[in-house]
Formats: sequence, C-alpha cells, structure tokens
Amino acid sequence: MSDKKPSGLEDVVVAASSICYIDGKRGQLVYRGYDIDDLVKNASFEEVAWLLWNGNLPTQSELDSLRHDLAVAMHFPRHLLEVLRELPFDSNPMRVLAIATATLGTLDPDADSMTPEANRKKAIRLTAMLPLVTTAWHRIRNGYDLLESNPEKSLAWNFLYMLTGQEPDDYAVETFDAALILHADHELNASTFSARVTAATLSDLHSSVCSAINTLKGPLHGGANEAVMRMLEDIGSLDNVDAYMEQMRADKKKVMGFGHRVYKAKDPRAVILEGMSEELGKRANDTKWFEMTRRVEEIFQPTVASKGIYPNVDFYSASAYHVMGIPGDMFTPIFACSRVVGWTAHLFEQYANNRIFRPSSDYVGPTGRKWQPVSER
Ligand code: SDX
Repeated sequence: MSDKKPSGLEDVVVAASSICYIDGKRGQLVYRGYDIDDLVKNASFEEVAWLLWNGNLPTQSELDSLRHDLAVAMHFPRHLLEVLRELPFDSNPMRVLAIATATLGTLDPDADSMTPEANRKKAIRLTAMLPLVTTAWHRIRNGYDLLESNPEKSLAWNFLYMLTGQEPDDYAVETFDAALILHADHELNASTFSARVTAATLSDLHSSVCSAINTLKGPLHGGANEAVMRMLEDIGSLDNVDAYMEQMRADKKKVMGFGHRVYKAKDPRAVILEGMSEELGKRANDTKWFEMTRRVEEIFQPTVASKGIYPNVDFYSASAYHVMGIPGDMFTPIFACSRVVGWTAHLFEQYANNRIFRPSSDYVGPTGRKWQPVSER
C-alpha cells in the first residue's frame, strides 16, 4: 500500500461551470454572480432555486409558477409511504432519504427521460419531496400522524410545520429559509461531484441524486453538522468546554465543523449562521449551545489558524438547528433538502456538455508475478 497522501483531487479542475464561485482566500461565496450575503438578506429559497437552475433571478410570474409547481409536487405517493412504513424505525434518516429518492425514481413518469424539460420537472419534484420525506420520516418513526403541506406557504414554513406540527413563527421561517439558501450550492463539493460522475455515464437524475445523498451522509462532508451536535452534547455545559478541548488536543482529534478544502478563511456561511445561532438562542432564552460553540472556536481556532483551518458551514448550523427544536439526525437531511437544488443545477450543466469522468491512478503494486498451485503458496 502506498503511504503517499492521496491528492483527493485537490486543485484539479474537472469542469467549467457558471453556477457557483468560491474565493477561498477571502471567504466569499457567489451564486450565479450574486454574493451570498446579498441573497440571504433579500431573496427567498425559491428565488435562489430558480436562480441556480436557470441562471437569473425569476420574474414574479416565474416565481409564482415555481411556487405552484412545488406546491403541486408536495404530495406523498401511496407506494412511497408503504415503503417507508416497512423500514426499521431506527433507520438512519439519510439512508431513508436515499431509499425514498430511488423509490421516487420508480414512480416518476419522467424518470427515464433525459430531456432538459423532463429533468427540470424532476428537479422541482425532488426539491418538493425531500423535505416531505425528511419530516414524514421523523413523524413515522415517532408514531405521529403525517401532516399535509400548506400550498400557500413557503418550503421553509412547510418544513418546520410538517416536522413539529406547530405553525412556525416568522423569525424561525426567515432563519430556516436563510439556512436553506446558505446550503443550496457549493461548487464541486464531494456530493455534487459524485452526482456529476454518475450523470456523466448518462444515468438518470434520480440515480445521480441518490449518489449525492449517499456521499453527503459522510461525517467529513454533510454529516459534520450532526457530529458537531454530538460533540456539544458530549461536552454538556459551557464550564466543561475548556477541559474537553484540552483532551481533544491531547488526543490529536479533529474538531468537526472546522477545516475546508477550499476556504482558508472563515466560511462566509459560518459567519452568517453564527449570527443566526446567537439570535435564535436569545429569542429562545437558550444561549447555552451557541455560547459553547463560540467557546470551542475561541479555544481551538488559534491553534490551527496557521494551517488555514477555520469554522465551516457545519460549525454553527448545529446549535442553530438544535435551538429550533430540530433533532440532530435531521441536520444532514436538511442539508440534502437544500443541496438538491445545487446538485440538479450541476446535473443540467453536466448533461448539456458531457464527457464521462475516468481519472487514472498511479500503480504502486507488484509486477511480474506468476501463478502457483495452492499447495505451493
Ligand atoms: C462540508 O467541499 C465543500 O464545499 C463541502 C461543503 C459544502 O458546502 O458542500 O463546504 C460542506 O463538507 C464542510 C466540511 C465539513 N467537514 C468537517 O467539518 C469535518 C472536519 N474537517 C476535516 O475532516 C477537513 O477539514 C475536511 C474534510 C473538511 C477537508 O479535508 P482536506 O482538505 O483533505 O484537509 P486534510 O484532511 O488533508 O487536512 C489538512 C491538515 C491535516 O493536518 P496535517 O496532517 O497536514 O498535519 O489540516 C488538519 C489535518 O489533520 N485538519 C484538521 C481539521 N481539518 C483538517 N485538524 C483538526 N480539526 C479539523 N477539523
């Protein structure tokens, strides 16, 4: 086995894309030319979905038609419900999301069509269905009744309502909508790349999104926000942070929610999520999780800044979601509910100008060996 550190395709350009630009040094994130701060302040997730898919912000009639299409698509097919009800109640929600997406591929009338129109329809349907599956799974595994979505309300409002059964307040909806915008795309991250590799074989959109969901699940990628929450629960209280971090340092353990292949400054999404987490904590009179998170940053950051390691998108999303009453194992599915827009925008690009991905490896194994009878081995 080679002891050379794998490149992980660092700095390797594999596609030209006009969807998302990241300035890792300055900590900037841009969707189709719009800075993320501008979009989070002024746009809705539905507007950003249209922007990522189509390249421009929607007109009012385009936005109305997208909202209508999402509302129409937000209905649970009976077959899908039967599949979910057969799953063990302790199934990992990301595994459930992958199973549901593959099942939707058996039910979607356009599943095997590869025309741009069919792919746009499927992208809208999946963007409507992933939140439905995520929230429904939480209710099925707890024995709660399923709730119908409200076609007059936004995707963010519906997610919070269908998860908790309570009508969410305006600030919670605004914050959750902003979190969905922040997670919607991020250039060629692992799950998006995985989707593009699958699509490049001319496999269909549902199959490519399944690849992406399974890739996002990993704790080095989308699963990091759940790992941050587990760390905070392990720590337990603000008073314990210093000793806990001392132990992490002694054990040379990685701190989840820190580090990034591209950002060598604080992730601009972490900056925004930090403010959200603080405000949510104050409004809920539960600032403990935010304060613990900030204390972890205060202690850990100075020890790794020289390596260009800073908080990433997952670091403050954990405390923000927790204070919103969202269970920890729902954090990564929420990431998927948002990133399905970015994944499908990249799939449109891949299908439009495609070549199969086939990198090579540096062979470091033995050569010139001859077969021997098993008695002589
Ligand atoms: C996401 O790519 C994207 O855009 C992803 C994402 C998106 O929106 O799609 O931004 C979402 O996935 C964010 C990242 C979430 N993951 C985590 O928080 C897990 C913890 N972070 C690390 O595992 C790591 O930083 C990665 C996976 C994010 C990046 O890995 P790299 O670029 O391969 O870096 P590396 O593992 O080679 O680390 C370089 C050095 C190493 O030290 P040395 O061996 O060189 O001495 O930095 C160290 C690492 O040990 N390091 C850390 C660290 N992350 C890297 N040390 C302590 N704690 C950490 N979190």
